[in-house]
Amino acid sequence: ARTFALIPAAGMGKRMGAGSNKQYLMLDGMPILARTVRTFQEAGCIDAIYLVSPEQEIPFCRSEVVERYGFTKVRAIVPGGSERQHSVYNGLRAIGDINPDDVVLIHDGVRPFVSVQMIEDAAAVARDAGASVVAVPVKDTVKVVRDGIITATPPRETLWLAQTPQAFRYGMIRAAHDQAAAAGFLGTDDASLLEWQGEPVRVVQGDYRNIKITTPEDMILAEAFLKEKN
Ligand code: CTP
Ligand code: MG
Repeated sequence: ARTFALIPAAGMGKRMGAGSNKQYLMLDGMPILARTVRTFQEAGCIDAIYLVSPEQEIPFCRSEVVERYGFTKVRAIVPGGSERQHSVYNGLRAIGDINPDDVVLIHDGVRPFVSVQMIEDAAAVARDAGASVVAVPVKDTVKVVRDGIITATPPRETLWLAQTPQAFRYGMIRAAHDQAAAAGFLGTDDASLLEWQGEPVRVVQGDYRNIKITTPEDMILAEAFLKEKN
């Protein structure tokens, strides 16, 4: 079975408030999205990469990311949708020539600290078990709050923070997205669509450095992680 990467990068970066799309902010001279794609380009198990971009930014994405860094595995840049789930669905439908048992790894364009090891681990578990999510145990105590009052404290040892990559056999994730679209169900990540269908999803140990760059302080963390690497 082959392994494909699908990288949604069609968001607006509202929480970053940078005035431009955060996926093109520079980290040590290289756009965040290019750092992310580079790791998939380097991972031996990845056969092809599909990127999802806002429609009007597709030419920019092609010249400033794909061509500039020579990412030969990128097979298409697909226009995104209004929610992340719509962007991923557009990407899934654009992957031609794929079998139900082929594996697709879905990974946020703004998680540049993904490693080849994480990609291989997530893909291997999806190949065996059908679906996997890279995640880390929560460090803080999590409270459920309604109207300013704590209503529950879920046992911490049951709580994990979901990251990406999330990897699936194509047939399973495609069916889940088809059914979610038909039912108007919107999940927060791709795994939640399989959970909604009652399908088991396995957790793969992630890395606390594999942050999603979301708010301005995440840029400070990202610079620190890069410094540590160099
Ligand atoms: N994404 C996407 N299409 C959307 C929304 C998000 O492809 N309609 C992508 C983002 O580009 C990002 C990933 O999904 O790579 C995770 O989303 P998030 O961190 O929420 O990014 P944004 O939606 O851009 O940020 P915000 O929610 O703050 O506006
Ligand atoms: Mg968002």
